Amino acid sequence: MPQITSSTREIPETDSIPRHVAIIMDGNGRWAKNRLMPRVAGHKQGVETVRGVIKNCIERGVKYLTLFAFSSENWRRPADEVSFLMQLFIGALEKELIKLHENNICFKVIGDITKFEPKIIEFINKGEQLTANNNRLTFTIAANYGGRWDVMQAIRKMMAQYPNHPFDFKEENLTPYLSMNYAPEPDLFIRTGGECRVSNFLLWQLAYTELYFTKTLWPDFDDNEFDLAIQSYQQRERRFGRTSEQVQVL
Ligand code: IPE
Ligand code: IPE
Ligand code: MG
Repeated sequence: MPQITSSTREIPETDSIPRHVAIIMDGNGRWAKNRLMPRVAGHKQGVETVRGVIKNCIERGVKYLTLFAFSSENWRRPADEVSFLMQLFIGALEKELIKLHENNICFKVIGDITKFEPKIIEFINKGEQLTANNNRLTFTIAANYGGRWDVMQAIRKMMAQYPNHPFDFKEENLTPYLSMNYAPEPDLFIRTGGECRVSNFLLWQLAYTELYFTKTLWPDFDDNEFDLAIQSYQQRERRFGRTSEQVQVL
């Protein structure tokens, strides 16, 4: 288990290579539209980008990769697009789980998966069990995930654990119940596709994360684009509330 610290309470370990990279993979629809293709063609191509990013993380020594694949708000999309995304998810799980395992990758899903069809839930559970002891990279998919949902489900679990506790809970009482309790908070957040918003992704965990936004559409996010994001991260000074002078003598 990694050392889990809250960036608002203790300064987490930092390094030139981010330990945890969290990505909002956006721009698939526009990528397809630019090519006069249906939106779903962009989603299909986006899966190829995921493969490349996993490979990149392994090569560079990133230990945690978290990808936002489907938000709790994405159910608002046209039914046929939602259904295509579900089929794509099933297909990718079916094809890739063994490969992830062979590559010593631990696979996790965060989000309210109870809303998915039974086949998806079964694949997720099997995949998580199969890869539970792998330690080269922890690869998390956020599916039917929302940052506010995460905080709320954690509060519910915490309250159930301490039904008679007076109401003086602290941050560290809540964090074990958050869905990413197994990972350090993200060091680097990337959003492709040009929008500069967080869209209800990891709200709690992004408190001190370095944010990187690029106009590049997700299907075009290649090795070089990933390098640019890492280079940008390496130029940041992470101060966690301190002054620059204090950080430099640390
Ligand atoms: C991101 O690409 C993929 C999902 C949200 C599943 P989009 O589908 O949002 O692509 P754009 O933003 O419409 O281009
Ligand atoms: C965010 O993308 C969610 C995922 C990438 C899964 P969206 O394209 O749905 O975000 P908004 O709604 O435009 O902010
Ligand atoms: Mg989008």
